[in-house]
Amino acid sequence: MPHSALLNVMIKAAYRAGRSLKRDLGEVENLQVSLKGPRNFVTAADRRAEEIVRAELAKARPDYGFLGEEGGARAGTDKSHRWIVDPLDGTTNFLHGIPHFAVSIALERDGAIVAALTFNPANDELFVAERGKGAFLNDRRIRVAARQRTADAVVACGLPHYGRGNLALARHEIAAAQRHFAGLRRYGAATLDLAWVAAGRLDAYWERDLSPWDLAAGMLLVREAGGFVSDLDGGEAIMAKGQIAAGNEAMRRELVRLLQQAAKEFAEEGAPP
Ligand code: IPD
Ligand code: CA
Ligand code: CA
Repeated sequence: MPHSALLNVMIKAAYRAGRSLKRDLGEVENLQVSLKGPRNFVTAADRRAEEIVRAELAKARPDYGFLGEEGGARAGTDKSHRWIVDPLDGTTNFLHGIPHFAVSIALERDGAIVAALTFNPANDELFVAERGKGAFLNDRRIRVAARQRTADAVVACGLPHYGRGNLALARHEIAAAQRHFAGLRRYGAATLDLAWVAAGRLDAYWERDLSPWDLAAGMLLVREAGGFVSDLDGGEAIMAKGQIAAGNEAMRRELVRLLQQAAKEFAEEGAPP
């Protein structure tokens, strides 16, 4: 699949950040680590990778805006275009030497995501998509899984942890998932969860309390792989609410129905003591 000039710029930036992350992975015990919130770590590796991506993208498109997890937002003179970047998704995995993390880059044009990339440098898996051109893994076209029965489905989710998110609600959601799906997985990198739905490895995925950089690239990857994404009420406010349900249409709809039922049970049960 010939890559557009734009995608080549994104791939070059991701590969350069990937090399830096692999170097840091080898030195992880010496990495400077700080806390951004309860159990929300940031390392020198995150910051280094973001600066590499930002500089590479700015070289090719100096007038585009930039939103990065670590450095925040930088306005561009071109108000139509904005990069949305997670330089290291799966920082907690990275800190533990778990080779499941990614660089994620998306390009937003007039509010819509038009190009997406998620790259896991630990196994050299490059997921890319451009609007209307399909989704690819290492240049092989990918499609979401076609399974229709929840009893055959393997689903991933994000889990809240102490000080972040609603643990009691999550218990209801997990119990519902365990009752209906063949398997439930928690991998620890939202951008890769969405890329794996796009590649048909996962039948569905849901998570709350996410940021634009966790969501942007994955939304386009899933859509260009023939899948569907919504917020957890089945609506379009994914970025605004910071929540997502993804899968083929039947699986996404059934997942949303089960999560709404779990939320109802949680509400009826009332907040735990
Ligand atoms: C986190 C990961 C994790 C998800 C968190 C994200 P980070 O991103 O994607 O899987 O559950 O909500 O914040 O902090 O490693 O970039
Ligand atoms: Ca991150
Ligand atoms: Ca992230």
